[in-house]
Order: sequence, then C-alpha cells, then structure tokens
Amino acid sequence: MLLLPLLLLADLTPGGDNEPRHAFQEPISFHLIQISSFANSTWAQNQGSGWLGDLQIHGWDSDSGTAIFLKPWSKGNFSNEEIAKLEEIFRIYFIGFVRVVQDHVSEFQMKYPFEIQGMAGCQLLSGETTESFLMGALGGLSFLSFENGSCVPSAAGGSRAQWFCTLFSQYEGIADIITKLLLETCPRFLLGVLEAGKAELQRQVKPKAWLSSGPPPGPGRLLLVCHASGFYPKPVRVTWMRGEQEQPGTHQGDVLPNADGTWYLRVTLDVAAGEAAGLTCRVRHSSLGGQDIVLYWGSSVSRISVILLAVILPTSILLICLAVWFWRRW
Ligand SMILES: *[C@@H]1O[C@H](CO)[C@@H](O)[C@H](O)[C@H]1NC(C)=O
Ligand SMILES: *[C@@H]1O[C@H](CO)[C@@H](O)[C@H](O)[C@H]1NC(C)=O
Repeated sequence: MLLLPLLLLADLTPGGDNEPRHAFQEPISFHLIQISSFANSTWAQNQGSGWLGDLQIHGWDSDSGTAIFLKPWSKGNFSNEEIAKLEEIFRIYFIGFVRVVQDHVSEFQMKYPFEIQGMAGCQLLSGETTESFLMGALGGLSFLSFENGSCVPSAAGGSRAQWFCTLFSQYEGIADIITKLLLETCPRFLLGVLEAGKAELQRQVKPKAWLSSGPPPGPGRLLLVCHASGFYPKPVRVTWMRGEQEQPGTHQGDVLPNADGTWYLRVTLDVAAGEAAGLTCRVRHSSLGGQDIVLYWGSSVSRISVILLAVILPTSILLICLAVWFWRRW
C-alpha cells in the first residue's frame, strides 16, 4: 500500500530537481492511536501514542495529561504554544471520553470489561496531497469511521454504532474540531515532522547477512536459512538463487523490528540434501547501491578443501622430494 504513493512520487518529482522533496520510502503517514480500557464502573485507563508509519514518535502520560516526545524532532515544526494547545485538546478529550462512555454504558447495553480502540491520522499521497482517516473499534471489531465531517457506523458495529453516530451528530462543535485536526493540522504536522526528522528517516543502514541451517524438514532434506539484519529502511529483497534463477519453495518470514530501529528478515529454503551445493542467497537493499550481498551455500566447506589442497599438496610434494633425495643419497 505504501509503495503505490512512492511510485507516484517518483513520477511526479519535477525533472532537474535531483533531491526530491520527499524521498521517503516510508513512513509517509502519521497517526495517533488510542486504547481505552474500561474495567468496571469506576476504573478506566487511556493509552495514547503517535506513529510515523511503523515508528513510534509520541507517547502519552495519562497521569499528567501530557505528550511524551520520543525523538528530538517529534514536535516537527510546531511551536511549543501550538503543541501545548494540542495537548490541552487531547487532555480534555481523554477525560471527556471516559466520562461520556461511562455515562452511556447501560444505554448502549455494554458489559464491563471492554476496550475501545481509535486510530486517526493522515497519509501523504503524492506531492503534498494527503488523505485523512479516523476509525474506532469496540471489543476488537470495527465500530465506526469518520468521513467528510460525519460519523459513519460500521456494519460490524450494528445498531449500537448507528445509535452512537446519531448521538454524535448532536455535537456539531466536536465534529468541527475533529475535521480541522484531520484535514488541516495533521497534514501540516506530517509534512513538518518528515522534514524535521529527515536525517533519521532517510538514513541508509546496510544489512549484515549470514547463512545457517534449520531443523531438517524431512529425511534427506535440508533447511537453508538466510538471515539479513540491521538494515534501514524496511524494504528489502532476500532470495535464494541458483545462478540467475530464483528458487521456488522459499519461505519468507515477517520483517521484524530490531531494538535499534533497524529491521531483520529470514528467508528459508527446503531442498534435497544433494541439491544444496551451488545455491546462493542474494540480499538487495537500497543502502547497498546496487551491490547485492551474495552468500554461497557450502562455501565454508569448499574453502576448507581449498585450504587443505593449498597446504597438504605442496607439503606432500615436498615430503616426496625429500624422501627421493634421501633415498638417492643413501
Ligand atoms: C475495578 O477494576 C480495577 C482494576 O481492575 C480494580 O482494581 C478495582 O478493584 C475494581 N473496582 C471494583 C469496584 O470492582
Ligand atoms: C510546517 O511545515 C509545513 C510543511 O512544510 C508548513 O505547511 C507549515 O506552515 C509549517 N509551519 C507550521 C507552524 O506548521
């Protein structure tokens, strides 16, 4: 999904401009996540966070009602005054949200405990065109979304969601604030924060790659494992090859996060033991500038034989010569 806007970006970048304004492979969306847990009629907890694609850049301290800025550039180009105003809006929202939900629990026929999740943000499409979104879920099921300034109940939300949207439509002021945050504030923040965090977001970190063998999948079979780790950004292509031929039967795991913000991927191949020799693992990544990493299966074995040949053969020849020389002398 994220690749499409990227391709569009590549096409729309004006010619002659050798540094495109947004040379991001990802992330190009910003969203806030809300998780509100209601344990019983007196206990509720809000968790909030802010994300640039896969990268968390904001937390929320619900005791003090303030944002936690996880990166030095998490405020983007917003002034401290504007940030403080936004924190105030979210502080009031979280308190009001819990109160409104608790007040309507019996009316909406909800049973404790339950959890409400919300996600809202905006995504960069092409150039500086953005698209905004807001979605809510109840008990893990889609409940509503917010489109063109109004609340739209989800099918999975049933009559409860319709009821909620009817209730919501009575609060015009809130709809206006949400619309402004989604359509004006979010895109402006996104463009600013992408610029402020450019050095970190556009960094290129090369993968390290290595091979290992996994548990044999069956008698006479081998599981070859190719690991690539420590790379950034996330898009990577790891393939098992024979010559220029990509091997079928590879299994690609998920691209997993490392603690330092880089990524890790393993790709396995199930082969008959006799066919493993000559296979290579090829790692392609933007940081490598076209110089793919190529690892040869069994190369450690053949390297040992080369060493053996290189050491043993001359030694044996020398010994034979010595033997012949001594034999002649005697
Ligand atoms: C409400 O839930 C909280 C958290 O689970 C618990 O500590 C508290 O005792 C509960 N209160 C009541 C009245 O059940
Ligand atoms: C921040 O950057 C965005 C995009 O470049 C711009 O539209 C906005 O005016 C800047 N300033 C503030 C305070 O948002």
